[in-house]
Amino acid sequence: MNHLLSIADLSREEVLRLFRLTAALKARQKAGDRGAPLAGRSLALIFEKPSLRTRVTFEVGMVQLGGAAVYLSAQEIGLGVRESIPDVARNLGRWVDIVAARTFRHATVETLAAHAAIPVINGLSDVEHPCQALADFFTLWERGMDPGRIRLAWIGDGNNVCHSLLLLAALLGTPLAVATPPGYAPDPGIQARARALGGRVMLTTDPREAAEGADVLYTDVWISVGQEGEREQRLEAFQRYQLNDRLLGFARPGALVMHCLPAHRGEEVTDSVLDGPQSVVLDQSENRLHAQKAVLLHLLGGGDV
Ligand code: CP
Ligand code: NVA
Repeated sequence: MNHLLSIADLSREEVLRLFRLTAALKARQKAGDRGAPLAGRSLALIFEKPSLRTRVTFEVGMVQLGGAAVYLSAQEIGLGVRESIPDVARNLGRWVDIVAARTFRHATVETLAAHAAIPVINGLSDVEHPCQALADFFTLWERGMDPGRIRLAWIGDGNNVCHSLLLLAALLGTPLAVATPPGYAPDPGIQARARALGGRVMLTTDPREAAEGADVLYTDVWISVGQEGEREQRLEAFQRYQLNDRLLGFARPGALVMHCLPAHRGEEVTDSVLDGPQSVVLDQSENRLHAQKAVLLHLLGGGDV
């Protein structure tokens, strides 16, 4: 069974095939061509945490492919409370063709995948956000940027989004400099995995060092969903890590600014940078739609568009 729980579930060749498929699906949508390669197929969406982009892009993506999506909040189905996670997975596997799940614990998406008998997509766990990383690197790829010839800098928390970017950067040969406060570096296991894939990872606590010479600066919230209890200590720790005009000034002229969104304006990023001419955050957001349609087709064996 094919799942997308981690970027490490994909090979470099599969990622490049997904990019080509994403581009074709995007062009097709823009041309108003509404084929229905997933007619009669269904996606179940399980969300333990809030979402704008992930929910809308999966639901709309299924509509655009001719299929249907069913949204299930964790409270509604009582995931692991009213019913065990394996039992939820076994039942869903009898009704729908594929599941996408946003969970607090990465182990929950793994348990769903182990028992569903259908493909499972990680829609953000505490460890990874693979759909985001695919849309992000596609956003650079569609602009004609060669992943092997650019330098990426991550500024802020070494979190779930950073982990998937690290793994995808490794697969595609993009050097990635990560600047985090001490104690907030990416998970050592993910770092090791990225390096084993040939990744060139540079870790620093100095945001300027990471930004210097970068073609792309990426940041994310300092307080991810589930970390609200650490708010005060995190705001203190991350003070020097704001992506503002000064930090952007150390990157290459015209460097792109990325953020997975939602943004906490005035914390990790300033309005001037987020809304400025170098920001591609809405392209990233738009591309979630098409990248996930490519993932759905890939996992459901309908990738010949
Ligand atoms: N970037 C992202 O996954 O956004 P949502 O949390 O709104 O889904
Ligand atoms: N790191 C953020 C990403 C949200 C898309 C979080 O986990 O809340």
